[in-house]
Amino acid sequence: FETKIIEATDDGMKEAQNEAVNLLQNGEIVALPTETVYGLAADAFNPEAVAKIFAAKERPDFDPLIVHIATLKDLKRVAIVPEDIQETVNKLANEFWPGPLTIILPKTPEIPDLVTSGLPTVAVRQSGHPIFRAINQALGQPIAAPSANRFGRISPTSAAAVMKELEGRIPLIVDAGACNEGLESTIIRIEPREGKKPIFYIHRAGPITKEQLQKFGKIEKVKPGDKLQAPGQLESHYAPLTPFRLIEKPSDFIPEEGKTYGLLSYKGEEGGEFVRMHEWDSVVALSPGSGKLAEAAIRLFYVMREMDEMGLDEIIAEPVSETGLGVAIMDRLRRASAKHPAQQ
Ligand code: TXA
Ligand code: MG
Repeated sequence: FETKIIEATDDGMKEAQNEAVNLLQNGEIVALPTETVYGLAADAFNPEAVAKIFAAKERPDFDPLIVHIATLKDLKRVAIVPEDIQETVNKLANEFWPGPLTIILPKTPEIPDLVTSGLPTVAVRQSGHPIFRAINQALGQPIAAPSANRFGRISPTSAAAVMKELEGRIPLIVDAGACNEGLESTIIRIEPREGKKPIFYIHRAGPITKEQLQKFGKIEKVKPGDKLQAPGQLESHYAPLTPFRLIEKPSDFIPEEGKTYGLLSYKGEEGGEFVRMHEWDSVVALSPGSGKLAEAAIRLFYVMREMDEMGLDEIIAEPVSETGLGVAIMDRLRRASAKHPAQQ
């Protein structure tokens, strides 16, 4: 494939939408912007098209995809919402859709097994990105879309990052600039309880925080090794090619003679102890000066990619406070920091 990028700005908008819809209707895959990260899209009801996603990403087929619906009416085409969680699903959809919340529900028979990796459940969300929604709507079909990166690598938050990951493997990238959230959607499963608020198991921390979800359910974390854990939530993920290590406290870092180190810092120069503890070859801040978690979330994958290209021997990451969005950021830093299966 010659991979084409169309900018979905004023002039290119119509062209981008038409080409994307055309390709999707013909069983092709295209990279589309969402509010979280760029997704690699296919018609969710077309198994041959979905198979192309797995091939392009080199994604193992035990890792199920998220299905995106254009309107709430389409929910019943992909999922069968059990009666005892109907009200909760309505409330969550009301509050958070369109937006970065993914809900795991029993699937309809029409959803191909390839999409769910044979699971009886499907992960569903409604994207809030105007261009994604317009394409989803015009296609008239739910869209299966994982993040548009090769398996195990950093999710792309720009068209240029998608190009780096998938050039030559897909026909089209719709470019709508940088993503607003920068981290993949929060994934939850709902367990009803008689006469009490339901339990929400958080399968993946994301832009919708537990503080926001608490109003509607009791939050529980999915423990590692839990059978019901998202199969794709491997311990090692989001990994740069450069060795990457999250250091929880400065005293844990013992530099090796002659090695070059970069610091992925939270606030940067004014940030204090991590910046001061070593003569870094490079310091890049997630939220320069101010330390805002929302800004750090948006910039995280971008900065990881940028530092990956500096030719450093190792990237050292400083922790952020584990509240609100910080939970999702720390989750990504830990996974990027975990040993890659191939290295173990
Ligand atoms: O923000 C996002 O969610 C982005 C954009 C493109 O929508 N998508 C995304 O997809 O991050 P992906 O494939 O990179 O991550 C989907 C995660 C995987 O970890 C997968 O295991 C989990 O969702 N998942 C999908 N279906 C599931 C199911 N039925 N049960 C449990 N986990 C599921
Ligand atoms: Mg992914």
